[in-house]
Amino acid sequence: MKKGKALIFEMGHAGRRGYSLPPLDVPPKPLAELLPQELARQLPLEIPELSEGEIVRHYTNLSRSNFAVDLGFYPLGSCTMKYNPKINEEAAGLPGFAFLHPCQDGSTVQGALELIHRTEECLKEITGMARFTFQPVAGAHGEITGLLVIQAYHRARGEDRRRVLVPDSAHGTNPATAAMAGCEVVQIPSDARGMVDLAALQKAVDEHTAALMLTNPNTLGLFEEDILEISRLVHAAGGLLYYDGANLNAIMGYARPGDMGFDVVHLNLHKTFSAPHGGGGPGSGPLGVREELAPFLPLPVVEANENGYYLDYERPLSIGKVHSFYGNFAVIVKAYTYIRMLGADGLKQVSTDAVINANYLMSRLKQTYHLPYDRLCKHEFVLSAVKQKKKGAAAADVAKALLDYGMHPPTVYFPLIVEEALMVEPTETESKETLDQFIAAMEEIDRRIGENLTEITRAPHSTPVGRLDEVKAARQPRVRWSREKDREKD
Ligand SMILES: Cc1ncc(COP(=O)(O)O)c(C=O)c1O
Repeated sequence: MKKGKALIFEMGHAGRRGYSLPPLDVPPKPLAELLPQELARQLPLEIPELSEGEIVRHYTNLSRSNFAVDLGFYPLGSCTMKYNPKINEEAAGLPGFAFLHPCQDGSTVQGALELIHRTEECLKEITGMARFTFQPVAGAHGEITGLLVIQAYHRARGEDRRRVLVPDSAHGTNPATAAMAGCEVVQIPSDARGMVDLAALQKAVDEHTAALMLTNPNTLGLFEEDILEISRLVHAAGGLLYYDGANLNAIMGYARPGDMGFDVVHLNLHKTFSAPHGGGGPGSGPLGVREELAPFLPLPVVEANENGYYLDYERPLSIGKVHSFYGNFAVIVKAYTYIRMLGADGLKQVSTDAVINANYLMSRLKQTYHLPYDRLCKHEFVLSAVKQKKKGAAAADVAKALLDYGMHPPTVYFPLIVEEALMVEPTETESKETLDQFIAAMEEIDRRIGENLTEITRAPHSTPVGRLDEVKAARQPRVRWSREKDREKD
């Protein structure tokens, strides 16, 4: 018997059935009458034959082999793995939404268009932007859409600006996106407080600057206190300010990117607005812009007139399409449900609780782990495992050991400016008891490093698989079973 769980292809028996159908009440037709010969399968389909019970057990077991936010604490910094209310799924699954076809005529999908319009109104209010597009289907997709819009804006003004400034604490997608958009990336260092170094920014910003990409609070979880001065410097040179809204969970109802001076904003509906994500699931990275940039947004956008809602394709300055149809509509439904369920006060409370939870954890954990930027944080903070590394266990070992406590590890080795980084984002949906369990686990791991180092450096011990070759898993994933490859292995 093979070690580990059998693949579904290795299970079952010929003739076993997972369904029961009533006897045929029409005379069966020969295959030749139903399908042209050249389209008919020559060999039987190689699919496993199993009972319904076996199939249910197989997939239920598989679903329990992985970690999920519905199973336990998931403080994966920068990813905002909050609890996703099930009412969101209920709304997105309503037949009036779920059974729409994107090619339907606008007159038959008025409700869906209205929902997009209403969500846009909410996001405008939350961010201080003038217009949104919902076509981008991830944060990084919003980023590249934003940079294309920014380039189109500069071109329309007769300027060819290609330099994008990115702080060294930025999320990796920011410089990557700028490079993909054909821009030159200039890194701006952080100062000792973990903020953008204003002197370095002043030196870098000039007539070639297309934009500065910034997230506020930044990836250290710290609010860029000099944001108004940053905005003044960039705008004075004719550049634009791009807001990476992946960290909006920290400031909803308290501060708006538009009021800080940002011109372009992407949001991650799949983070801040509670649509489930992880494992590459469908996301939504709507992009908001100031009025002057609105003509360049992807087409179509939803407009309203006396006849109702319609899709406007008459936008000559638009950068065109960045995704089929209107993006991931179901994610927009989930985000709208969440926003309406909470209302303005509720969204503000989300940020209040996210910040309180993070500060509580930070103030307790800094007693055991090094905290390089020791200031009040927003929704997340970054510890360093340098003390633990001196005893033999790196940040990755601490992360792996946490899995044995039934908790997902924090983000590790990011942001790059923190050595042995452990980036913790508890989110607002966790109780004090859960936070205390996490603190106890982190403290116990630190103790165990001193007592039995190899137990930690060989963790996890309780998961279906132990330490994987993460580079191979990312670079050469084998996600499709093939009988031939399986035979070669045997
Ligand atoms: C700060 C920040 N910016 C951008 C992104 C990219 O978002 P997405 O993963 O949806 O492409 C992330 C994702 O983790 C992020 O944390």
